[in-house]
Amino acid sequence: MDLGAIVAEIGAEMAAAEDRGRVADYIPELGRVDCNQFGMAIVTAEGETHQTGDALTPFSIQSVSKVFTLAIALGRLGESLWRRVGVEPSGLAFNSILQLETESGIPRNPFINAGALIVTDSILAGHAPRETLGELLRFVRMSANDDDIHINENVAKSEEETGHLNRSLAHFMASHGRLLNAPELTCGTYFHQCAIEMNCVQLANAARFLTGAKSAPRLLSRQKIRRINALMMTCGHYDGSGEFAFRVGLPGKSGVGGGIMVVVPNKASVAVWSPGLNARGNSQLGTLAMERLARTTGWSIFG
Ligand code: DON
Repeated sequence: MDLGAIVAEIGAEMAAAEDRGRVADYIPELGRVDCNQFGMAIVTAEGETHQTGDALTPFSIQSVSKVFTLAIALGRLGESLWRRVGVEPSGLAFNSILQLETESGIPRNPFINAGALIVTDSILAGHAPRETLGELLRFVRMSANDDDIHINENVAKSEEETGHLNRSLAHFMASHGRLLNAPELTCGTYFHQCAIEMNCVQLANAARFLTGAKSAPRLLSRQKIRRINALMMTCGHYDGSGEFAFRVGLPGKSGVGGGIMVVVPNKASVAVWSPGLNARGNSQLGTLAMERLARTTGWSIFG
């Protein structure tokens, strides 16, 4: 299989695509990003990298950061984490508050915003936000084997200024006694984690530990890797998770910056980025490119 040629062909198709979706503008700083960009990178279990398009352009990883905070929380707390956050798809938008009211302030899963706030709150416990963000950056840099990964302060500030809905989620959960820290500290940490910038090559490398491949960094036990991949498969694209499973058939996590991180267990990790989103807030061309890649390579967790 000539992965280099496959990736180049996908890059050419996406460069010519007309329907590119719409950039997220509810975080004003993200609304300024040029929609005409597309990048993709694959790192195989053997450590070969293939890339195309804007694979070296940094973008805001946004909700993809939730995978790394989950990895840290799971590594630290183990299975007791699931007492604070569920493992069911929500079937609702990533920022919905609806189920929190009927489900006693316990979020459905760690990838919707409410659940990600609980995960961040768990790793924050007893630490200053700056320390926790330092720990997160160390984890991401180690997993990507690249120290040139940083938080974009303008994006963090932009979200801080407009994050009323996330603050509502945090305060709602606090009213049910579900937070360990002051809502402002948890939200501030969360806004900054979402503002981490990476390019596709860095992100594909950062996902290697989730492939379970022998050559990948061993940052978590196999059982914990399976937990995270299962959640990416069922909840990683919010109310678009069923469609992503149907079209792509691989565990993936999307972000409103237009990035998607995908795991091909034992074989490869992939990052794709195009800032235009579909109606459910997931990258329009990123999803299409992953569909093309999965079909051409035959990669799927469904046989
Ligand atoms: O909290 C937010 O709304 C953003 N920082 C992250 C949302 C996100 O990336 C959803 N993913 N598609």
